[in-house]
Amino acid sequence: MRIQHPLLMPRSAIKISFTFNGVSYEGREGDSVAVALWANGIKALRKSEKNAEPRGMYCGIGQCYECRIYQSELGLVKACTTLIREGEHYYSCL
Ligand code: FES
Repeated sequence: MRIQHPLLMPRSAIKISFTFNGVSYEGREGDSVAVALWANGIKALRKSEKNAEPRGMYCGIGQCYECRIYQSELGLVKACTTLIREGEHYYSCL
């Protein structure tokens, strides 16, 4: 699920393992959490507080906060602007 374009290719081929909601995934060094999850086919990052509908990336540049998730060390973070880290655990808000 990665875009194949010379300008948009991943910056690194180094693979990084992380978990989201307890499931292991693999991303590439320099990926944001949202991009790494998107590349693994995961687009729903949390559920709406109002009606429990799935929510995912919207702006992709850190402005809307639709992609908020929990990181085990930092707490609430924006998945679109947070880089994945080896062995890190991320969770949906709901
Ligand atoms: S998608 Fe808008 S802040 Fe992450």
